[in-house]
Amino acid sequence: MLVNAKEMLDKARAGKYAVGQFNINNLEWTKAVLLTAQELNSPVILGVSEGAGKYMTGFETVSAMVAAMDKSLGITVPVALHLDHGTYEGCYKCIKAGFTSIMFDGSHFAIDENIAKTTELVSVAHGLGLSIEAEVGSIGGEEDGVIGRGECADPDECKMIADLGVDFLAAGIGNIHGKYPDNWEGLSFETLAAVNEKVGELPLVLHGGTGIPADMIKKAISLGVAKINVNTECQLSFADATRKYIEAGKDLQGKGFDPRKLLAPGFEAIKATVKEKMELFGSIGKA
Ligand code: 13P
Repeated sequence: MLVNAKEMLDKARAGKYAVGQFNINNLEWTKAVLLTAQELNSPVILGVSEGAGKYMTGFETVSAMVAAMDKSLGITVPVALHLDHGTYEGCYKCIKAGFTSIMFDGSHFAIDENIAKTTELVSVAHGLGLSIEAEVGSIGGEEDGVIGRGECADPDECKMIADLGVDFLAAGIGNIHGKYPDNWEGLSFETLAAVNEKVGELPLVLHGGTGIPADMIKKAISLGVAKINVNTECQLSFADATRKYIEAGKDLQGKGFDPRKLLAPGFEAIKATVKEKMELFGSIGKA
């Protein structure tokens, strides 16, 4: 059931668990995430970066595919279709294409410009029933061309953006997109606690969910995180399972080269990763 992400995240924040945002890349990804959410009776957010949207031939294709798949698979759990790290123009494209939620990432602008653009997009998104996420500080590393230095968010700036009426807020707290380097210092819980203190009951978003140890995830949830984004980990599981299939020579046996067979181990691997994350985030049975 396609919905915006506000209600599911308000409930998660109040119930002290988090909803996973799993980024999608193609049909297999979308089907794997939707089926797992349904099997586990969990709410879920499908994240689409601008790069992935382009790869899938545009946001309209993505929106049509998700809406049709949601219907044909008989998905009854709440599902939000959400733009990840959107530009100002990308937000308008997704609103037009039928997404149910957007993220405007104005973190690389000066705070005044971030405020001005976020204010406008909050009004447009809410006018059409979409939820909206904003960002303060930045997420380190690179995701689909979006590069961040990883500076921790200023809690006062978070309060300014929260007061614009955004539905959930991503604050940089030392988190990084992609694999964490060996010398990573960990999440800044000092920053997270200070941000949480300033923004009241607003659900907070933890980007860079790949590879964050379970104890840090639990602590982040206890400090107001209600949405956790995972992208790289599903890609790694998919690639690993696919490599094993090919290295075992299974694509050369019988009709093992058939894409429905070739992609099946990767598909199952995405399902297993999504399940593991939903267990850790506590969203199972919360639909
Ligand atoms: P990872 O690729 O590190 O899981 O991060 C995903 C993310 O934050 C999407 O916005």
